[in-house]
Amino acid sequence: MIKKFLDLGYQPLANKYLKSYKKLSIKKKELYRLTVGFDTKTKLVSLFNKIPDKIMFDGNYPYKSSMSKTMTDSFRKLSVKIKNRFNPKLFLEIGSNDGALIKNFNKNQVICVEPCSNLAKITKRKGYFTYNNYWDLNLSNKIKSKFNTVDVIYSANTLTHINDLNQVFKSITNLLTQDGILIIEDPSFLECIKKLSYDQFYNEHIYIFSALSVKKLINEFDLELFDIEKLDTHGGSLRYYIKRINNNKIKIKDTVSKQISTELKFGLANFLTYKKFGISVKKSKNDLVKIFKRLKDKNKKIIGYGATAKACTILNYCNIGNEIIDYFVDTTPDKSNRFMPGKNIKIKKYKKTLLNNVDYIYLGAWNFKNEIFKKERQFIKNNGRFITHVPKPKII
Ligand code: TMP
Repeated sequence: MIKKFLDLGYQPLANKYLKSYKKLSIKKKELYRLTVGFDTKTKLVSLFNKIPDKIMFDGNYPYKSSMSKTMTDSFRKLSVKIKNRFNPKLFLEIGSNDGALIKNFNKNQVICVEPCSNLAKITKRKGYFTYNNYWDLNLSNKIKSKFNTVDVIYSANTLTHINDLNQVFKSITNLLTQDGILIIEDPSFLECIKKLSYDQFYNEHIYIFSALSVKKLINEFDLELFDIEKLDTHGGSLRYYIKRINNNKIKIKDTVSKQISTELKFGLANFLTYKKFGISVKKSKNDLVKIFKRLKDKNKKIIGYGATAKACTILNYCNIGNEIIDYFVDTTPDKSNRFMPGKNIKIKKYKKTLLNNVDYIYLGAWNFKNEIFKKERQFIKNNGRFITHVPKPKII
């Protein structure tokens, strides 16, 4: 049974940055109720209202993995690890985005799968074999007829965006060699709950995985976890290493049982934990709004840094518009001169001078706090301060 624990109200599609500000309507299906539930049987956390992927992932998808040094560094390190540990003859990435990971591999070693045509074009142009398709059984069969099998399949922050997880894993096992490896990484629900980062929920994030839920889910497909790594990316993620159950050549590391027991101790198997999280989110909202109000009452100039999909959830849930945040700065070219969905706040192409005369910066990309603080030493030196809601609303 799926039990509701969080209601973030009506929310626009997070990555649909507006060309000009327009009030969105529920009737025209521009706003969707964002409610989140916990399946007491499978332990999976999911959105109730699932938006068709074709609406969300199209030819204008603005998010590019290469925009952050943290991500490109993480992918570079991972590529070395994959080569040393698994030495794949053929490597497939589901959701290859702009090629931030695959650029570390030889062109004849890699298959990219990317449904957003603007992103698929980038890896195609660089000479990587790219399927501009959604990940499903049709595509898996098509790849199989050309390449037969694949030794390592990798996917970061993508499988949780796909509604039909049954088809996702069937399509993977269809293509994976008998001793093949599947590696997936996604935000960890344990970290989300610890950091009270409820902005991990937006329409694209249909599921938020825990090791508990992944273990149960993949067992249905005769797959099992053999290693788990903790990552700092996306506010705290887990990288799951998965093999076929009947592959006895690979030992199961104790990282798996450790993570599962940490999650059980934290109460991730019990609905009450989720219910408490829902209550804490309401308090977090009130506290954040109070901070903004107090600063605005003192006529402080506040801007946003990182026009993230996560920030979209916060702005719409907390009802924060341009009466509070003057503008957002962001390095992503496809976001600049656009407006935050649902809120009349302009996004400006990042340049240092946009931080002049600013008193406070709301960290939309709080997950890149260290990278941003390093970059903005001067702002901090000049007594500039940051506002964050993670792990609780505060001024840093
Ligand atoms: P994400 O949190 O969804 O990965 O998005 C991060 C956003 O923040 C992305 O739009 C790029 C932006 N960004 C900056 O504008 N400047 C920075 O220094 C960093 C690290 C990210």
